[in-house]
Amino acid sequence: MFEASIDPTQPKAELYKDLAASLCAVLDGEPDPIANLANASALLAQALTRINWCGFYLLRGPDLVLGPFQGKPACVRIAMGRGVCGTAAARGQTLVVPDVNAFPGHIACDEASRSEIVVPILEDGRLRGVLDVDAPEPDRFDTEDRSGLEDFVRTLVPRVRWSSLVNA
Ligand code: SME
Repeated sequence: MFEASIDPTQPKAELYKDLAASLCAVLDGEPDPIANLANASALLAQALTRINWCGFYLLRGPDLVLGPFQGKPACVRIAMGRGVCGTAAARGQTLVVPDVNAFPGHIACDEASRSEIVVPILEDGRLRGVLDVDAPEPDRFDTEDRSGLEDFVRTLVPRVRWSSLVNA
């Protein structure tokens, strides 16, 4: 079994490089998509400091449905266009929310959450779901986190069999 040794205190550019490399190592040779998303969320939780939730919502039918994650139990179903997740999914664009209380329609799953980033998961232009990361402090995610997490999703996309997870 691969052992990830990511130093969470290193500069963000290196941290996210290590994270993408560890993701490749963790997923290497494993075809099961649930196992791979579960390990991807565990890797994020291990590497990122000052977060309280990280994981996936997968597009299933018309809704985003809770997938593998790390953190407190969360709301299961989010309609497209609702909350931070549904808005990022509908726009097909990353959303960085420095203050969740100032985001109209924010869905509070863990009351500790103060800021949030949601990265859409697109495979050949087709929406498969989102990556959601929450933090217990305002303004946790900067432009380096944004590009690092977008890179994480880009690394993840070709390594997961999305078609067997989501409704076509
Ligand atoms: N806050 C999200 C809901 C998911 S939880 O944060 C895990 C939203 O507004 O879409």
